Amino acid sequence: MKPLAQMACDVLTTADGHEKTALSRRYAAEWFEARSKGLTPEIGTASPPLRPARPEKPDLLDPRDVPRRKPGSPEGRIAMLHAVAHIELNAVDLHWDIIARFTDTKMPIGFYDDWVKSADEESKHFNLICDRLHAEGSHYGACPAHAGMWQSAEETADDLMGRLAVVPMVLEARGLDVTPGMIGLFKQAKDHATVEALNVIYAEEVHHVAYGSKWFHFLCGRHDLDPKVAFHALVQRYFHGALKPPFNEEKRAEAGLPPDFYWPLADETPDRTARASGFRQKTAHNPM
Ligand SMILES: [Fe+2]
Ligand SMILES: [Fe+2]
Repeated sequence: MKPLAQMACDVLTTADGHEKTALSRRYAAEWFEARSKGLTPEIGTASPPLRPARPEKPDLLDPRDVPRRKPGSPEGRIAMLHAVAHIELNAVDLHWDIIARFTDTKMPIGFYDDWVKSADEESKHFNLICDRLHAEGSHYGACPAHAGMWQSAEETADDLMGRLAVVPMVLEARGLDVTPGMIGLFKQAKDHATVEALNVIYAEEVHHVAYGSKWFHFLCGRHDLDPKVAFHALVQRYFHGALKPPFNEEKRAEAGLPPDFYWPLADETPDRTARASGFRQKTAHNPM
């Protein structure tokens, strides 16, 4: 079995989405087979590319140039599924990247278990959504996609705590906020297969945020830092702009993200009525 960091680089340098996710799933299965036998496989070191290999299509556009379609229309739903597939493929790379990029920082083996599992789940998510695109006569690559998605990874390439703060604890947490609205749209369209796929994603994404919070708190403990203060400083350094309510407070809590982590970074103060009545399912656009 190859050292894990080398496996991670192999996934990162594979361009085709289906090949990338197949390799990702195969390596994850090898890792967990070894772990189930009580082994501690070698992590090793590697030189991950600054940007992962990507297929020729989709065209990557500035977010402002990605055409918006009515979310209620069939084209709108395909565009939305395409955006989700793009996010999932990025997420596969993000989880392998955190494994390969920070091998200088000694971490417990559980850190690697968590990100290998997450990468495996993202690979499954990409394929679930691609199946839905095919069922609608489309495919990944058919629509333009967001070019900026790797930016946070590049900006935190030298800062593991910054990476944890911005990627799982901000970007993936945002996914928890917007997914219920998206599920609602597909329910309305009576697209039960997509609802089922999105429910799988929704349930599993909670863990990715939780792993981020767990290892962020672990590193704060190691460096004797106040986690909330450190989180605010890192998000302000690496994340451009304010966080957008409404927040899915229930799922965020389940993932170990307390309100005083994210509300102070929001572009509006908490609406007391909304907070008292729990999360309002109002956002359906721009899944991230
Ligand atoms: Fe995912
Ligand atoms: Fe995720």
